[in-house]
Amino acid sequence: MRIAVVDSGYVGLVAGACFADLGHDVILVDNDQPKLAALKNGQVPIHEKFLPELLSRHRGQRLTFSDDLKEAVHLSSAIFVAVGTPPTESGEADLSYVESVAREISGGINEYKVIVEKSTVPVYTSEWVRKIILRSGTDPQSFDVASNPEFLREGTAVTDFMFPDRIVIGCDSERSAEVLREIYAPLTDGSYYERTDAIPQPDRASIPPPIIVTSTTSAELMKHASNAFLALKISFINAVATVCESVGANVNHVVHGVGTDTRLGRRFLNPGIGYGGSCFPKDVMAFRAVARESGYDFRLLDEVMRINEDQRQRFLRKVRSVLWTLRGKNLGVLGLAFKGGTDDIRESPALFLVQALLQEGCKITAYDPAAMARAEEVICSKVQFANSAYGAAHGADALLILTEWEESANLDLNRLRRELKYPIVIDGRNLYDPEVMAAEGFTYCSVGRTACHPDGVPAAVLENGNKA
Ligand code: UDX
Ligand code: UDX
Repeated sequence: MRIAVVDSGYVGLVAGACFADLGHDVILVDNDQPKLAALKNGQVPIHEKFLPELLSRHRGQRLTFSDDLKEAVHLSSAIFVAVGTPPTESGEADLSYVESVAREISGGINEYKVIVEKSTVPVYTSEWVRKIILRSGTDPQSFDVASNPEFLREGTAVTDFMFPDRIVIGCDSERSAEVLREIYAPLTDGSYYERTDAIPQPDRASIPPPIIVTSTTSAELMKHASNAFLALKISFINAVATVCESVGANVNHVVHGVGTDTRLGRRFLNPGIGYGGSCFPKDVMAFRAVARESGYDFRLLDEVMRINEDQRQRFLRKVRSVLWTLRGKNLGVLGLAFKGGTDDIRESPALFLVQALLQEGCKITAYDPAAMARAEEVICSKVQFANSAYGAAHGADALLILTEWEESANLDLNRLRRELKYPIVIDGRNLYDPEVMAAEGFTYCSVGRTACHPDGVPAAVLENGNKA
């Protein structure tokens, strides 16, 4: 099938490359000329596993790039809209990009097309897209609007696309549902997984993935509800971690016990410095706004956001309580991305903390395996960048772990201790076992677990950050 994907951001680029790998002819449309030129030249603008392979496999063949949306619509049976929906001042999603794309699409409709929302949008957006296209005088029989939310996580987006837990198709006509079923057929009939060049199968994969066909409205709501619930799980466990610190319990043990209840599940229960990224903060706010507009005061979501904010402040207090004064302290920082496996720094709690610590007069040497170039654009001259974790630790008064990179979880502790001026590690992601760290000679603070001190050294007066 011939497919157009509008916007080559994270979602559009991954979806476009994956559709091409499923055997479709894809036109990726963007009006950012330098970006288009870079893509045509073989550059990969984001750090995403397997994306370089897929782009080089299909570029110029099944995957082409264009700035002509009207022509792309003309040539395609389905048009996926994956443009940004940033938050407005009041927390609602800004749908002006969606609207202008819808208007442009209407000019290219020459025969039956399915316009598919891929961006996360408030409920009823599909209805608005339909109205906008009709207003341009388009024949109502010549198109349908559908919702096909993505559940991709950055860093594992290609794998998530090819091995989804489910494929959600929100359609209000059988004709449009048929088009979307056909697009995903290589996954749902299992033929993709028999290919020798298929993307490697992850540990947890439901093959073939189930397909959920529902109304556009339910599909739109499903996406907001899923993201809000995942954010809620994270805030819930962060709140539990705070209680653990106060009573001397170990949150990791609590998570193990809670997560093994199949009704609850172990995933998205990692405590830390709060969630960030381009989705959760924006989507929780947008869902809150959608609910308010529909007449429901969804206050639970306010609390999810409040706990998330608080989690960063608690970490700052923890740093202060270990180091006492901050002005002039040299801190090594591991991680700037909003999570491991990506170079994305949007709404990164790590970057927020770095900026707050700079404000307090700390000197920071940071290392991130992928996000340093992007971070440099924001914090440029104020932070020194190292080319390894040990470089960031070198001569530092303490080491802060802010992103859950696998690399940061597997450091040579002997070497780390030798690099640091003082053997102090403040871990915002619980990557190490406190007992091991104490045995290796570190003062070690983490989230929801009692601080540990080097074996044989009398316990210093260390706070967990609870009291401020
Ligand atoms: C509960 C816990 O499930 C169990 O692990 C614990 O040991 C004791 O408390 P119980 O109270 O027997 O068990 O019933 P449960 O099946 O959990 O239901 C509790 C209430 O929640 C009921 O009123 C039930 O109708 C309601 N419920 C449950 C819902 O409204 N929706 C659901 O999806 C599940
Ligand atoms: C999220 C959703 O997972 C995905 O389904 C949706 O399509 C887009 O939004 P993403 O933002 O890429 O994906 O990252 P995710 O892995 O969900 O992590 C979001 C944030 O939560 C990160 O800052 C991460 O560090 C944090 N997190 C995640 C925790 O603090 N604890 C956890 O247990 C899981």
